[in-house]
Amino acid sequence: MLVSATEMLKKAVEGHYAVGQFNINNLEWTKAVLATAQELNSPVILGVSEGAGKYMTGFTTVAEMVKAMMDEMKITVPVALHLDHGTYEGCYKCIKAGFSSIMFDGSHYPIEENVEKTKELVKVAHAMGLSIEAEVGSIGGEEDGVVGMGECADPAECKMIADLGVDFLAAGIGNIHGKYPANWKGLSFETLAAVQEKTGKLPLVLHGGTGIPADMIKKAIDLGVAKINVNTECQLSFAEATRKYIEAGKDLEGKGFDPRKLLAPGFEAIKATVKEKMELFGSVGRA
Ligand code: 13P
Repeated sequence: MLVSATEMLKKAVEGHYAVGQFNINNLEWTKAVLATAQELNSPVILGVSEGAGKYMTGFTTVAEMVKAMMDEMKITVPVALHLDHGTYEGCYKCIKAGFSSIMFDGSHYPIEENVEKTKELVKVAHAMGLSIEAEVGSIGGEEDGVVGMGECADPAECKMIADLGVDFLAAGIGNIHGKYPANWKGLSFETLAAVQEKTGKLPLVLHGGTGIPADMIKKAIDLGVAKINVNTECQLSFAEATRKYIEAGKDLEGKGFDPRKLLAPGFEAIKATVKEKMELFGSVGRA
C-alpha cells in the first residue's frame, strides 16, 4: 500500500538520515527502484514529473502500475508516490489519480501567489491523506521542461510557506537539476542553515541530487535535509549500461535483441545507483 511521505520524513529528521526520491520513467525504472528498496529494507519515494507522467500515458496509468507492482512484488517497505514539480492543475490530477504525495512548485510565482496556491493545496492534500511539498527559491537548470534560474531561497519566505502546514519544503540553495558544471560553487550551507533556523524540524528537500559530492550530502543532512531527489544519475547509468551492451554487439548474438535481455543491464545499473544513494543517504534498514 502506498503511504504519504510525512511519517517517513519525520523519522528521517529524528534519525539524521535522508530518504531518496528516485524519479521513474517506465516499468523497468519502477521495478528497479522498488526491488532495491525492498532488498535494502529502506523507505523510498517514487518521483514522477509531469513530463514523465505524460510519457507513461497519464498519472492514472502510473498510480495503477505502481500499486499493482507493489502488490505482485510483495513490497512491504514504505513507498510514497509523489508528483515532482507539479503545477496547480497537475496536483489536482495526481490527487484524483491516487498518488500519495504531491509537490506544488509555485517558486516561479510572486511569493503572495505561491502562498495563496500552496495554502489551498495543503488543505486539499491533507483532507485526502496526502503529503505535500512546496518550493521557495528555485532549482537551477532544466528538468522535463521546468527551467529554474537557481536563486537561493529567502529564509523569511520559507517560513511563510512552512507556516501553511506543508509537510516538507524544497529551498533553493545553489542546487541544479542535471549534471553540475565544472565551475559550480557548491551548495550554499549558509542559506540552508538560515532556512533551518526559521523552519525548525520541518524536513527539508534537496533537489538535484545527481553529482553532489558525498561530504556535501552529509553536511546537508546534518542541517535538516531529509529527502534527496535523484533523477539524472539513474538515466546516465541506464544509458551507459545499455550502450555497452549494444556496442559489444550483444543484441546481435542469439536472442540478445529480446527486450528483456536488451534492457537487463540498464535495469541492473539503475539498481546499483539506487543502492549507492540509499547507502550514502543512510536510509538502509530504516523501513
Ligand atoms: P537530478 O536530475 O539532478 O538528480 O535532480 C532530480 C530532482 O531534483 C528531481 O526533482
